[in-house]
Amino acid sequence: MEKKVVYFIEGDGIGAEVTAVALPVIEAAVRKAYGEEKRLEWRELLAGDKAYKETGEYLPQATLDALKQADLAIKGPLTTPVGAGIRSLNVTLRQTFDLYACIRPIRYFKGVDSPVKRPELTDMVVFRENTEDVYAGVEWSANSKEAVRLLEFLRDEMGADLDLSCGVGIKPISEKGSKRLVRRALAFAVAEGRKSVTLVHKGNIMKFTEGAFRSWGYDLAKEEFSDAVMTADEAKAGAKKPVLINDVIADAMFQQVLLYPGRYDVIATTNLNGDYISDALAAQVGGLGMAPGVNMGDSLAIYEATHGAAPDIAGQDKANPSSLVLSGAMMLRHMGWGEAADLMESAVEQAIADKKVTCDLALQMEGASEVGCKAFGELLVAKMG
Ligand code: NAI
Repeated sequence: MEKKVVYFIEGDGIGAEVTAVALPVIEAAVRKAYGEEKRLEWRELLAGDKAYKETGEYLPQATLDALKQADLAIKGPLTTPVGAGIRSLNVTLRQTFDLYACIRPIRYFKGVDSPVKRPELTDMVVFRENTEDVYAGVEWSANSKEAVRLLEFLRDEMGADLDLSCGVGIKPISEKGSKRLVRRALAFAVAEGRKSVTLVHKGNIMKFTEGAFRSWGYDLAKEEFSDAVMTADEAKAGAKKPVLINDVIADAMFQQVLLYPGRYDVIATTNLNGDYISDALAAQVGGLGMAPGVNMGDSLAIYEATHGAAPDIAGQDKANPSSLVLSGAMMLRHMGWGEAADLMESAVEQAIADKKVTCDLALQMEGASEVGCKAFGELLVAKMG
């Protein structure tokens, strides 16, 4: 029997509810697909509110130690206070383990109501840089000693005359960080037979960060993928290669994906752009409840839903567990256990086709009957036989 250890973190808010559904659904898919041949061994790690209650720490050392030697984990969302308090545990995990690529596939499930006319044209995979840009977390609050000192330095030494009472954040974007993210996106596009990779940036305004991301992306394509990847100019000149690399400015991209979703495929982008665009795309296919993802480095991958802890519906059995379920399917596919992943995705498709859905989808779907988070999970297990 092939056995694989997967660590899991329940998460805060709806995290415990969606995790309690996703894990048995993943289990059922593996059992159905492989019988006694393959098995997952689940090991819980503490983080967030549950960890604080049990250990007095939000991110205990034992969790970090276990993840240091792990290759796979799945986690529920963790709460981050706005403006003050603890720093984001999610960001800490991504930085500690150098999980530099946040990968979020966005596709439409037939039957889900959507704010756009042809949601089925939305089939994109966002590769969002996960360690730099605003996630580097280098900032100082307005009027702090550090902020004033930095602003004085910028004024006196660098000629940038800024209001000394500003809060200041630094937006670092490196060649290494940009290239390794674009490398992942291009490798994925080539391996999966995708037709294009679009670099999304705000390089017209931030030339040496966002603009540099774009240039380094094109450089990397030329240096490492010239057999399979062509630019628009090369295509115009008659080149025939499987993957096109192009770029779009971030604000225009939001319009493009609404008006012409069928034109875009794989998106590679900087941290903040990626955050916005993946939530916006999730809305195009029915909302955050349907949006899976993974934070991936070279040795560890932590699978997680795009959504947060949703305190407004936590503890009410209302959450849609599909995002975490679909994140689990991504994990199985990454492990090479594609048959089990197919079963899970098809169970979600069938439940939606039957119009038995959680309230976020039921609200938008005519004739749908609403089921709770737990019952939805049971339906998925039943669909897999
Ligand atoms: P959120 O994603 O938790 O909620 C936004 C809206 O979407 C809410 O109305 C919520 O009810 C709804 N929603 C989210 N997931 C849903 C689901 N599975 N089913 C049905 N409805 C769902 O975003 P918000 O409110 O900005 O953040 C809440 C907390 O979560 C914050 O502390 C934030 O920092 C944290 N967060 C954590 C993330 C992570 O752990 N990766 C990601 C995003 C936010």
